[in-house]
Amino acid sequence: MSLTVVKMGGSSITFKDKPFSINEEGIKNIAEALSEAGMQYFLIHGGGSWGHPAATIYGLSSFYHSDGSKGISFTKIKMLQLSVQVQKILMDKGLFTFYFPAQLIDALNKDEVLEMIERSVYPITFGDVIYEHKKGFRVIGGDEIALKVSYKFPVNKVVFIMGTPGIMDENGNVIKKISIKRSEGSMYIGDVPIIKGNSFERFEKILPKISENSPDATGGLGFKLYVAYMLAKMGISSEFISAGDKENIIKALKGYKFDGSVVITDGS
Ligand SMILES: Nc1ncnc2c1ncn2[C@@H]1O[C@H](COP(=O)(O)OP(=O)(O)OP(=O)(O)O)[C@@H](O)[C@H]1O
Ligand SMILES: [Mg+2]
Repeated sequence: MSLTVVKMGGSSITFKDKPFSINEEGIKNIAEALSEAGMQYFLIHGGGSWGHPAATIYGLSSFYHSDGSKGISFTKIKMLQLSVQVQKILMDKGLFTFYFPAQLIDALNKDEVLEMIERSVYPITFGDVIYEHKKGFRVIGGDEIALKVSYKFPVNKVVFIMGTPGIMDENGNVIKKISIKRSEGSMYIGDVPIIKGNSFERFEKILPKISENSPDATGGLGFKLYVAYMLAKMGISSEFISAGDKENIIKALKGYKFDGSVVITDGS
């Protein structure tokens, strides 16, 4: 069995510039597409205008550990509230989910999860606060979870659904293909190498920043591309599409030509 990981970005299921808002149309499009495409999924959603503002108000982030504070439970409660609404819409569209907290991904029994998927009930988790042994609390974003899931389960590709139609260049055009030369460990847009090694900071220097001023606790597009880079090095492709067009999401899920960006491994 080979799974399709779907990361429903916070930018596609909420309005990131409006705290604690829901993009119902976006979620419905995704739900219908997932249902109609009928693949075997591991589902993840992001924090959008729920998790990011909650975490940043209390100084929580993916990139350092914190001690206990009200922000831990506040952020977790806000994420649960968002997830209930997302999962309710998925259920109403015939997509049945089984929720696991991000803290427990490493502890999941792989065979049980795969059996569950065979019975057409799909594991779902979301960006959240986790605790790490002897270190403290930190945020784990949905993109990082996608990487964790791909290390643990048999995954063929990861589909990132976002608020934009893909990864955009400085003219506002979608970059259709970003390639990784696995032998060199470099990421290229066209002939231009944009990353070497394990740093994701260089993306930010090369890609235009289209983002609004909404709070972010997990590294935004730069970290998303770093995840895609790590996935490509494992031979797993990543696709980036918007939630706006249901048929286009179905095409991406089923492996047909779609409008958006793809990060793949080129050659050896
Ligand atoms: N060059 C770019 N191409 C595409 N999107 C960009 C670019 N620069 C910045 N962005 C922003 O990055 C967003 C996607 O990353 P972001 O982390 O904000 O969303 P997300 O991962 O969907 O949300 P969440 O983190 O809540 O899951 C896009 O919606 C866009 O606003
Ligand atoms: Mg993000």
